[in-house]
Amino acid sequence: MTHDKSSLIVMTGATSGLGLEAARSLVERQNVHLIIGARAPERADALRTGVPTDRLTVFRLDTSSLASVHTFANAVHEKRGSRLISALGMNAGMLGGDRLQLTEAGVEQTFATNCLGHVALADQLRNALAPGAIVLMTASQSHNPADRLTKLLGYRGAIFPNAESVVRGKLDESAGPAQASRDRYATSKLCCLLWTFAMARLTQGEDIRFLAYDPGAVPATQLARNLDFSSRIGWERLLPLAVPVLSSFTTPQASGRSLARLLANPEVAPQTGQYLDHRLQAATLWPKARCTAWQNDLLNVCAGLTKS
Ligand SMILES: NC(=O)c1ccc[n+]([C@@H]2O[C@H](COP(=O)([O-])OP(=O)(O)OC[C@H]3O[C@@H](n4cnc5c(N)ncnc54)[C@H](OP(=O)(O)O)[C@@H]3O)[C@@H](O)[C@H]2O)c1
Repeated sequence: MTHDKSSLIVMTGATSGLGLEAARSLVERQNVHLIIGARAPERADALRTGVPTDRLTVFRLDTSSLASVHTFANAVHEKRGSRLISALGMNAGMLGGDRLQLTEAGVEQTFATNCLGHVALADQLRNALAPGAIVLMTASQSHNPADRLTKLLGYRGAIFPNAESVVRGKLDESAGPAQASRDRYATSKLCCLLWTFAMARLTQGEDIRFLAYDPGAVPATQLARNLDFSSRIGWERLLPLAVPVLSSFTTPQASGRSLARLLANPEVAPQTGQYLDHRLQAATLWPKARCTAWQNDLLNVCAGLTKS
C-alpha cells in the first residue's frame, strides 16, 4: 500500500531533536495530516509556521502516564472520525538523571516513558490502523552490549533480569548512579525492541507492520538534558563537531528525515519485524531481542499494567 492520497500519521516525541526534524519533514508533505502528542503542546509551535492548521494537530501527551495516554488516544479517535491511521511513530524518549524515579503507578520513569506508554498507545489505537499501517518504535543501539560506540558513551547494554524487575528499576543494584541511569535507558530500549518483535510475530499474516528504528548517534539533541553539566556540553556542543568525520554519528536533520520516510513511505520497509538504521539498512541487533521468552514476559507484565 502507498499512502499517496492522504496519510494520517500520529507521532510522539516530535517537539525536539530528531523527532522535530521528522515532523518538519512530514508536514512539508501536502498529503500528510500529522497528529502530535506532546507534554507541552506549545513546544510544537516551531512546526506551525507555514503549515495549514488542518494538517497539524497537537494534543497533550505525557507518555509516562497511562491516564494521559488514554486521554490522548481518545482525542485522536475523536479527531480522526472515520479516517484510519497510516502510521504511528513512537519516538518520545528520555534518559533519566542519576536518581531512580518511579511514576505514581510505581513504574520506573524511563521504562514508563520510552516503552510502557507507547505499548498502551499502540494498543488503544490498534483498531484504527489502516491496512498496511506502520507501527514504529524508536529504539537505540545502547541496548546491545556488543555495540562499541555506545560503550564509549558509557553504556554497557541492556540488563533484563525479568520484566517485573525492569518495571521496578531493579537492574543491577551494585551499579553507580550514572551507570544505573544508562542501564535503565538501554534496558527500556531493549524492551521497545522486544515488544516490536513480539507484535510482529503475533500479527504475522495481518496487514500491519511493526518496525523499530535506530536513529544512530545523534548529538545536538536534548537527550542529555538530565545528565551532569559536562556530559550535556559534550553532547550538545562538542560531539556535533565530530559528526562529519564519524560515520556512526549523524545529525538530527538526517536522522529525522529517515524517520519521516519510514512513516510516510511504507515501501521503504516492506516487511514487519524489521529494525532499520538511519540509512534505512538493517540495524545491528543484540540476538536476545529476538528471545521469545523475554518477549512474552514483557508482554504479560505490560498487559497487567495497562489493563489495571
Ligand atoms: N540522540 C541519539 O543519539 C539517540 C540515539 C538512539 C535513540 N534515540 C532516541 O530517539 C528519540 C528522540 O531522542 P532525541 O535524541 O531527539 O532527544 P530529545 O531532543 O530529548 O527529544 C525527545 C522527545 O521526546 C519527548 N518526550 C520525552 N519525554 C516525554 C514524555 N514523558 N511524554 C511525551 N513526550 C516526551 C520530548 O518532548 P519535550 O519537548 O516535551 O521534552 C521530545 O520531543 C528518543 O526515543 C531517544 O531515546 C536518540
